[in-house]
Amino acid sequence: MEALLQKIAGYKEEVAAEVAGTADLVEAFRIKWLGTKGLVKAIMAEMKNVPVDQKKEFGQILNEFKIFVETKYETLKENATGGAGAGAAAIDLSLPGDPIAVGTRHPLNLVRNQIVSIFKRLGFAVAEGPEIEDDWHNFGAMNLPEDHPARDMQDTFYINQDPAWLLRTHTSSVQARVMETQKPPIRVICPGRVYRNETISARAHCFFHQVEGLYIDENVSFADLKQTLYFFVQEMFGKDVKVRFRPSYFPFTEPSAEMDISCLICGGDGCNICKHTGWVEILGSGMVHPKVLQNFGIDSNKYTGFAFGMGVERITQLKYQVNDLRLYSQNDVRFLKQFTGTV
Ligand code: DAH
Repeated sequence: MEALLQKIAGYKEEVAAEVAGTADLVEAFRIKWLGTKGLVKAIMAEMKNVPVDQKKEFGQILNEFKIFVETKYETLKENATGGAGAGAAAIDLSLPGDPIAVGTRHPLNLVRNQIVSIFKRLGFAVAEGPEIEDDWHNFGAMNLPEDHPARDMQDTFYINQDPAWLLRTHTSSVQARVMETQKPPIRVICPGRVYRNETISARAHCFFHQVEGLYIDENVSFADLKQTLYFFVQEMFGKDVKVRFRPSYFPFTEPSAEMDISCLICGGDGCNICKHTGWVEILGSGMVHPKVLQNFGIDSNKYTGFAFGMGVERITQLKYQVNDLRLYSQNDVRFLKQFTGTV
């Protein structure tokens, strides 16, 4: 009796430790323990050797052991088959793996990279500046007067703790950062995110992206500005696109111009995007104002320069015909996965 009890205890340990993971192993477990020639049957057969007065007690122990093994078998079977369908393995290592989806670049990044690469070919270097700026770099240095409406709280996000700091409203602030640290000749392109206190709609957002350009050297003229931007547009949109410059005003350039391109959506016939004019504005530009140069100790008699700033969303809209700005920041995969460029 004592020897039998010890045997059962040993069996119990063995059964408890069983981890059969595949259907084959579970079946082997069943045959070994619960089969007609299995160990449970064999130990049951020992009953006949147990003295009569102990049969009842021993019978109970044997019964519990049998239930223990059967329960274990059910558990193993369930785990091996994943709880469904008999006989299938829990892990079939021969199956092909689940593919890991490869992401695509965000359309704004695709277009920004393309803009940058075109200007890089012309010798422009990339410069970056902080998104949290001070009043001087964003406004003062760029010749925006104290009472300029852009400085209004309605238009600009100021930092609560210290309103001397704000979220830059344009990448022109990077012009200031560059002129502060570099001497002419300067030829930089500055991509980045900018912020404005706007109500979000299809046409406006509280943040968007710009690419700024700045070129300062001796004898830089408006003709250089025009030719550079014309080259850019042809590289970006193809040789057929037309450009036109309209006189404009920016405090940091004089003279200033806005550049339009012929509408790519309707080919110039007139549509919603070009407001039925056949033209779409894509950037502001001009000759760097002498005051801006002087703010950084650059001799405005010796050096001249041009600058420009364009909205990446606008260029992307024209390239991909995206008509709602909100799509860019909603992170909807159905939208994002449509852009498969690799630039
Ligand atoms: N900073 C202007 C804006 O955000 C864009 C701009 C216009 C930039 C003319 C320039 C420029 O560098 O010369 O609307």
